[in-house]
Amino acid sequence: MILTAFGILFSIAVVVAACLILYARWNYGVLEAAGVPVVKPTFFLGSVPNLHQKVQTDEDIRRFQEYGPIWGLYEGRTPIINVCDPDLIRAIFLKDVDHFYDRRVGHFGDARIDEILDYLPGEKWKKMRKMQTILFSSGKIRQYSKQLADAATDFVETLRKRCDNNGRTTVSTRDAMDIISLDGIARVSFGVKLENVEDPSNRFYKGLKRLLGEGLEYDSLYSLSMAFPFLHKLAPSFHIEPVLFDTFKEIINTRRTQRLNSSSELPHEEKQVCNDLADFLVNSFDNLDSAEFKRLGITETTLLAQALNVTALDMISSSMTMISYYLSINPSIQEKLHEELDEIIDGKFNGRIDSETVHQLPYLSACIDETLRLAPPLIRPERCCTKDWTSLDGTLKIKKGTVVMSPLWAVHRNPKYFNEPEKFIPERFIPGTESWEKDVKHPYAYTPFGVGPRNCIGMRLAIETLKINVCILLRQFRIEKRYNTELNFKPGMLFLLQFRPMYLDFIERRREVE
Ligand code: HEM
Repeated sequence: MILTAFGILFSIAVVVAACLILYARWNYGVLEAAGVPVVKPTFFLGSVPNLHQKVQTDEDIRRFQEYGPIWGLYEGRTPIINVCDPDLIRAIFLKDVDHFYDRRVGHFGDARIDEILDYLPGEKWKKMRKMQTILFSSGKIRQYSKQLADAATDFVETLRKRCDNNGRTTVSTRDAMDIISLDGIARVSFGVKLENVEDPSNRFYKGLKRLLGEGLEYDSLYSLSMAFPFLHKLAPSFHIEPVLFDTFKEIINTRRTQRLNSSSELPHEEKQVCNDLADFLVNSFDNLDSAEFKRLGITETTLLAQALNVTALDMISSSMTMISYYLSINPSIQEKLHEELDEIIDGKFNGRIDSETVHQLPYLSACIDETLRLAPPLIRPERCCTKDWTSLDGTLKIKKGTVVMSPLWAVHRNPKYFNEPEKFIPERFIPGTESWEKDVKHPYAYTPFGVGPRNCIGMRLAIETLKINVCILLRQFRIEKRYNTELNFKPGMLFLLQFRPMYLDFIERRREVE
C-alpha cells in the first residue's frame, strides 16, 4: 500500500519535472532556424545558466568578438537575437517597426513595475507615450534648466563643505551622483527639493536606492527564474518599497488640493495646466473613469507606475559617475574641458550657467557623447518580434515571440565604425578634427538613447541635465583618480549598470588658483 502511494507520488514528480523541463526547453531550436550563430544552450537553463555571476556588458563585448555582429542565445527559455550591425538595427528598430512594435511583457515580479511606459504594449503604450510627450518639449526643458542648475549648485555647496583644509574630499562617486541626479529630477518632476538624503530616516530616498539595486545581489534562483518566469516573484530584478508609491500619492494629493484651493473659479481647461509630472498625474487621475482609459486598461496603477520615470535618474547618475571616472583617468582631457568652461562661461556669459550657456560648449558635449558611447547606462534596448520577419536578403528569419536586442556596449565598440574603440576620445564627436575623420559615420552606430518610435522619451531632458551638472561641478572641482579607484560593475543586472563602490577625489579649483 505504502509502496503504491510512493510509486504514485514518484510518478507525479517525474511527470511534473518532465513538463517543467519541456516548458523550459520549449523555444530551443528557434534561434538555430533563424540562421544565426547560437551560444549553445544547456539542458534546460538556457545559454547562460550562471547569469547572476556575469557582468552582462563584459559578456556582450566578448560575444561580439567571438561571434561577430549578430548572435543568438537563450536567456533561460527566452530566445534572444543580438544585433550589432547598424543597418540591421535601423531595419528592426525603425523601418520594419510594425514587426517589432513592443518590448517583451514585463516580468519584474511586481505588477507596478510591469506597468512602466517601457513595458506597456501596443495601444496602451501609444496613448501613455503621447500623453507624456508634453513633459519633454523644448520649452519645458528650458523651464526645467533653472531647477536643475539650482540642484547642482546646492550639491556643489555640500561637497565644498566636506572638503578638508587643502580643498579636497574623497567621494563615493555613484552615491554622490545619485544625490545630484535625484534632487534634479525630483525638482523638475514634482517641484520638491530633496532634503536630508543622508539622513537614515529619509525613507523615500532609501526606497529609491533599493529600487535601483542597493543591497540587491543576484543568486542562482535569479538565473533559474529566467527558465521558469513564475519564479520572478521570489527573485525579483528590482525591490519596490511601499513608501515610494505612498510618497507619489501624497505628492499628487497635495498638488490636487493646492489646485482646488487656488483655482476653484477657473474653467476646467485652465485647471488642466501641465508644468511637470505631478500635474500630468493629477490631470490623468481625473480621466480614470473615461471610456478610453477603461478600454485600454489604464488604471491607477498604470498612472502611478509613470511616476517611476524618476528612476531614469539612475541613468543620469550612471552617466555622471562614468564621466567623472573618464575625466579622472584622462587628466589632459579634463584640463581641456576646464579651459573651455572657463573661457566661454567667463568670457561670453559672465559666469552665468543656464540652458543657453550649456548649448555653446562643444567640448563638454563631446565628452558627454563619448561617455555615452563607451558606457551607455541602458545596456540593451530591446524589441519583441510581434509578426514573423525576414531580412531583405533572406538570410535572417525572426519568429514571432523572439526578442531582439541591441547590446550597446558592443555596438558602440564596433571597430568598423570607431577608430581605437576602447579609447576615450571626445574629439571623435567634433567635426573636422583628426579623430572625427578617422571614424566611419553611420547614424545607427551610436545610439545611446535607442532608435525609432520607442526611443528614449527623456533624451533631451537627460542631455540638458548632464550638461548642466557637469558644467557646474567642473567649474568648481577637479576630479582625481585615487590609488584605490576601481571600476567594478555588479554581475547579473540585465538592463542597467549597477556599481560596486568607486572612490574619486574632488579638489576645489578656486583654491588651487589662489
Ligand atoms: C543619460 C540618460 C539616459 C539614457 C542614456 C537613456 C536611454 C534610454 C534608452 C536606450 C531607452 C530605450 C530606447 C529604445 O528601446 O529604443 C530609453 C527609454 C526610455 N527612457 Fe531613457 N535614458 C536616459 C534618461 C531618461 C530620462 C531622464 C527619462 C525621463 C525622465 C527617461 C525616460 C525613458 C522612458 C520613459 C523610456 C521608455 C520609452 C518608451 O518605451 O516609449 N530616460 N532610455
